[in-house]
Amino acid sequence: MLDEIKNIRTEIEKKIPNIKTADDIEKFRLEFLVKKGSIQLLFDRLKDVPKEEKPLIGKELNLLRNFAEETYKSLKEKFEKESQSVPDIDLTLPGRIGFTGSRHPVLLTMNEMVNIFVRLGFDVAEGPDIEDEYHNFDALNFPPDHPARDMQDTFFIESDRKLLLRTHTSPVQIRVMKGMKPPIRCIMPGRVYRNEAINARSLAEFHQIEGLYVDKHVTLAELKGTLIKFAKQMYGSNSKFRFRPSFFPFTEPSAELDISCFLCGGEGCRVCKHSGWLEIAGCGMVHPNVLKECGIDPEVYSGYAFGFGIERVTMLRTGIDDIRLLYENDVRVLEQF
Ligand code: PHE
Repeated sequence: MLDEIKNIRTEIEKKIPNIKTADDIEKFRLEFLVKKGSIQLLFDRLKDVPKEEKPLIGKELNLLRNFAEETYKSLKEKFEKESQSVPDIDLTLPGRIGFTGSRHPVLLTMNEMVNIFVRLGFDVAEGPDIEDEYHNFDALNFPPDHPARDMQDTFFIESDRKLLLRTHTSPVQIRVMKGMKPPIRCIMPGRVYRNEAINARSLAEFHQIEGLYVDKHVTLAELKGTLIKFAKQMYGSNSKFRFRPSFFPFTEPSAELDISCFLCGGEGCRVCKHSGWLEIAGCGMVHPNVLKECGIDPEVYSGYAFGFGIERVTMLRTGIDDIRLLYENDVRVLEQF
């Protein structure tokens, strides 16, 4: 019997580490501490034990029962304490702030410009970044000796000058006019490249958004109206605009659109080079030679075209006064948008 007592004790000791839930504790009680439990059964057998062994076995049995009862009590207390106690977490500790990516300010500007023109009834078209001389220059009525074709402005890809990185989005006009019949009303956003010195105002790689409307009876008045409508939506109805005569080989007449300087409000400052105005777009009526080249009869149809520089517009809206900041990928700049 002494062995059985010892066995039960070892059994209890083995069980302790696995007792974790209220159910486990209750099972423990039912196994060892009730009338039909294994310890009480040993007590029941005490009467059959020879007289001289009784004191020793009785004592051991009492010790065993005390041990089981103590174990039960302490397990129960421990469990109750744990289930009541506050979890070991400091809820006042500030959380780690995850880094959230965002769209690039130039893309945000481009999307907003596209959205405004789409609401005005324009479709969106795109063309390749690697163009040929025909689409980038010839078809746009650039004379063969035009200085813009020169190595200083254009990145030529092949030494025979046939392939180049487009210097503006206007070649997409040619692709669109050759691909569909009037009425044509498209905007053409994209990346353009110029072999220019990099400084606070210009980069060798930037973005433009081109616009083209070709139909019967398209007038300069419509061009002005559309651009002003766009510009007021983009910059707010308080901004002032002006059209200034200009020259592009592919438009006649040609103009540039200026906006009153966002920094000085027209007084004159460093950003607007003390003129009070900032140039935001080139525009004009599509040159008859260009229409002809694309198989559109200039006697029947007319059209207007315009081109905005997207970085310039982004700088106006964000107050960034050095264009290079847009492409240094410094998160301290980018995360503000
Ligand atoms: N392509 C011209 C430029 O890059 C802008 C322009 C587009 C002007 C359409 C007139 C019409 O400067």
